[in-house]
Amino acid sequence: MSIEQLESIAQAMVAPGKGIIAIDESNNTIKKRFEAVGLPNSEENRRAYREMLLTTPNLSDHISGAILYDETIRQSTRAGVPFTKLMLDNGILPGIKVDKGPMSLAGFPGELVTEGLDGLRERLAEYAKLGAKFAKWRAVITIGDDAPSATCIDANCHALARYASLCQEAGIVPMVEPEVLMDGDHDIEICYDVTEATLRSLFGAMYEHNIMLEGSILKASMVISGKGCEEQADIDEVAEATVRCLKASVPATVPGIVFLSGGQSDEQATAHLNAMNQMGPHPWPLSFSYGRAMQQAAMKLWAKDMRANFDDAQKTVAQRARENGLAALGQWHK
Ligand code: 13P
Repeated sequence: MSIEQLESIAQAMVAPGKGIIAIDESNNTIKKRFEAVGLPNSEENRRAYREMLLTTPNLSDHISGAILYDETIRQSTRAGVPFTKLMLDNGILPGIKVDKGPMSLAGFPGELVTEGLDGLRERLAEYAKLGAKFAKWRAVITIGDDAPSATCIDANCHALARYASLCQEAGIVPMVEPEVLMDGDHDIEICYDVTEATLRSLFGAMYEHNIMLEGSILKASMVISGKGCEEQADIDEVAEATVRCLKASVPATVPGIVFLSGGQSDEQATAHLNAMNQMGPHPWPLSFSYGRAMQQAAMKLWAKDMRANFDDAQKTVAQRARENGLAALGQWHK
């Protein structure tokens, strides 16, 4: 696949007023989400839940793509239509989570490094055949007393660059995600410093690995106060600090930046994105790739009564997509 084709996929992912829905929870993560709403974590429940999300009427009005998990990309609707076919027919790009999750970084207690490079070339070739147009790899950076170490940041960014390179070789757009966690009592300035150091390391590694930035997407965490910090930065402070940090570290060649929600409430995630876009124009489109902030209300409804609440759960997904789509344009009103 040519760089022009990768570039056009990346641009479609961040088309004006559109963003991504992340439904790539591993079976362990969805177990936690299902448990919280009283649902058994069976394969059929996972399939039926993802079918409810993906068959939401007019989802593509504000959703350009959905990130799937290895099990999900092989699943079909009850009527037997593969999810990837349903998505492509509806103008939604299939994406796939390809990392194998964060593991303890030996020698650095409390820090994590994401694994999954072994066999990745072969897995990407299969995912491309199954219809995947983009792939996600999430690195996790933890803020703590002596963390993050430069070693942890660099090890994660090196892995991100190697994965991104393999994606482009396979004709798949890499969505590179270095998530700085909100956990901790650190203030927004510390989050700014850690995010800036991480993004600089990331783009240094991407450069060294010959990544064509035009054919990639950055999935970033916002610069925000730690969950346990007494003084919580307000919406404009988060928006201003996030944009300043991105401008200081992300090349303008990157076709788009999408954010994770990372534990923010639905409304916070939308308000922050909206405030950032109201401060534009920026060198890149800023949009969303939310998991929890797109799904949590719908999951609660669906879990209460899968049949009776099916339509209302889909309406909730559509509403979250519409609100975040407006926020991607800076046109959302509470
Ligand atoms: P959240 O929006 O729930 O943080 O999930 C997005 C995601 O894909 C994290 O990798």
